[in-house]
Amino acid sequence: MNHYSLILPQMKQEDLLKGAVERIVADDSLHAKWLNSLSMMENTGARKISKYEHPVHTGIVVLKHAAEEARHAYYLKKQIEKLGKNACPDYSYPYLLAPVESHHYLNMLDVEACRYLKNKLKLEGRALKHGAYLLVTYAIEVRADMLYGIYQEALTKVKSRVNVKSIIAEEEGHLEEMQKMLVVFHPQWEKLAKDICEVEDRLFVAWIKAI
Ligand SMILES: [Fe+2]
Ligand SMILES: [Fe+2]
Repeated sequence: MNHYSLILPQMKQEDLLKGAVERIVADDSLHAKWLNSLSMMENTGARKISKYEHPVHTGIVVLKHAAEEARHAYYLKKQIEKLGKNACPDYSYPYLLAPVESHHYLNMLDVEACRYLKNKLKLEGRALKHGAYLLVTYAIEVRADMLYGIYQEALTKVKSRVNVKSIIAEEEGHLEEMQKMLVVFHPQWEKLAKDICEVEDRLFVAWIKAI
């Protein structure tokens, strides 16, 4: 594949996201729901990592990751207070943007990654869980870098009191950790990661269009 065919869709996605984020940040009620939706997705991520954790063989990297994703969910929720008291008390549908697509995004990514690893590498059981954790997390971290970067730019531009700089720093760390673990996981990890990122792309575009 040449570079142009990769760059163009990427730029289109960034424009799509920028447009959506600028529209959202300009409206406190939409902005609160956006923060709440991101908080819900971070929390779902934290819960998925906790579910993946082995009861005995769990090291500091995974513990750190689970703790930080849970912190992101809490931190985003706290930011909502800056936009209005009790704007979004929980994750029920009226307090989320594109609730169905937001849930669908994470769940389908998991389902598709498992199916892919079963078919392609014939993995099952613990090995399947481990592979899916690495690839799904990798794809999400690539997206998080893009999404939080564009979001923070929009926040800075309007001098918003909301900020996500501490999340950006931690997501960059996660991406590096996932890369290190993927290298150990499989010699062709780059091809596997690329395939899952393509699945993620499709789900992300559906999500952002719904938002
Ligand atoms: Fe996160
Ligand atoms: Fe992360």
